[in-house]
Amino acid sequence: MAPRTPWWRGATVYQIYVRSWRDSNGDGVGDLPGVVDGLDYLRWLGMDAIWLSPTMPSPNTDFGYDVSDYLDVHPELGTLQDMDRLVEEAGRRQIKVMLDLVPNHTSDAHPWFVDALSGPSSAHRSYYVWAPPKADGGPPNNWLDATGAPAWTFDEASGEFYLHNFLPTQPDLNWWDTRVHAEFEHILRFWFDRGVAGFRIDVAHGLYKDAELRDNPPPRDDDHPAVRSGRLRPEYSSHRPEVHDVYARWRQIADGYEPGRALLGETWEFDYERFARFYGVDDRPELHMGFNFPFVLSELRAPEMAKIANETLGALPRGATPVWTASNHDVGRFPTRWCDDEDDATRAALLVLASLPGTLVLYYGDELGMADVDVAAQDQRDEMSIARPGHPSRDRCRTPMPWSREPNAGFSSPTARPWLPLGDYTHKNVRTEQADPSSVLNFWHRLAELRRQGLAGALGAWQQLAQDDQVWAYRVGGTATVVNLSAEPARCRLAQLAGGHVLVSTHAGQPAELTGPDVDLQPWQGVLVALATP
Ligand code: NOJ
Repeated sequence: MAPRTPWWRGATVYQIYVRSWRDSNGDGVGDLPGVVDGLDYLRWLGMDAIWLSPTMPSPNTDFGYDVSDYLDVHPELGTLQDMDRLVEEAGRRQIKVMLDLVPNHTSDAHPWFVDALSGPSSAHRSYYVWAPPKADGGPPNNWLDATGAPAWTFDEASGEFYLHNFLPTQPDLNWWDTRVHAEFEHILRFWFDRGVAGFRIDVAHGLYKDAELRDNPPPRDDDHPAVRSGRLRPEYSSHRPEVHDVYARWRQIADGYEPGRALLGETWEFDYERFARFYGVDDRPELHMGFNFPFVLSELRAPEMAKIANETLGALPRGATPVWTASNHDVGRFPTRWCDDEDDATRAALLVLASLPGTLVLYYGDELGMADVDVAAQDQRDEMSIARPGHPSRDRCRTPMPWSREPNAGFSSPTARPWLPLGDYTHKNVRTEQADPSSVLNFWHRLAELRRQGLAGALGAWQQLAQDDQVWAYRVGGTATVVNLSAEPARCRLAQLAGGHVLVSTHAGQPAELTGPDVDLQPWQGVLVALATP
């Protein structure tokens, strides 16, 4: 097939949590040479690109989301030369490499912050957000960090507080200081010049804070449950409109390269209009793509998914590329969250993900139906989770990739101690599933082939055909998806289906030709149909 233009539109992207994917040197931590070793597998999986979770030097209080040097590679993961080799070897297999960029905050070990801490007149003081105590000596306002504690830490030496929307070790940058803009434009070019194909932008909605540091209000009744579950609505501590100027500028930089580099935002936004804003407007484009969190956080149910897909596709500007994803290193794995670790439901979910029009981001292990792993308290590593008792630990979805049935699942040497424990990988591992024609992995492989042939690439041609409590049906170009998202049998009657040819079914035994308008679906069965009259 001719290369897709632009490459990111309708691409299939694979998120690699590098520490957990493939360990080449037996230290129990995955690394970049390990990713190189796995490239042929990624090619077989049909991936157009990989997004590497943070790879830059970091004290690892948030495993790389606390960057201490934006222009290098974390020694645990490899070297700059390893990154160059990865970009080159991936390129030889037509796979692009995207990195994770963290512009909202740095590590407190970053030289900018170390300098800022040296005093109010230091050169980098205003790279960060500082404010004096309130009259009662307390924090400057009511903002809370990601653990639910005050988002301000007091600096005894200067008598001021600094802001951190995440951990105290992750001071927020002050984007009102234009020098911060210049730093990040330099960082973008540094990696683009090395051949990196784009960035996933961490906390893309968050960079600017309210200039007056106004108190956040309580959530509103009509807010998304993810917002209502917090004590405050993060209206002033993030989600400020000024951020759009940053992305308009970054877009010019990214589009100035050949082939173009892609910007994919972690756009934690539940209002569709505001979400759509991140794509920019006609003559002022911004991000190429943004993660769709209402979809990520939905349930695998026809009414809910249909509503979200309709609203998303209705809100995005013409020509925009939606992004569909269901698992990541924060929210957990969809086979567990959506599917109770049942393979039938997992196949149905993969069918939906693969056939919605747009770019698909799979999280490593999704292709296997890999489940979240219960990580015992003494083995937990994620400080953010430890600081939020009562919430499931994010470690559960960061455990090592199971490659085979060998000790340590082929992730690391058999005698190593992986940095997080492995779950039960007896059946769910690459080698065992590759050998089983009925595995989730081989089902994904078939979908990947269809995506390569253009399934889901016909943006703008989406049309919902049917939706009830159980069934969801839609078409993209000449292909229809008909899926039963329930544990009961269902029937779907649609005149368009008559004469259609079933390209793939989640369940064996499905007749390949549809003679009439009815399709009888087993629980969690889905079919992809080439329509007779496109
Ligand atoms: C979002 C990332 O996905 C998450 O893992 C991280 O803890 C926060 N941003 C802070 O960088």
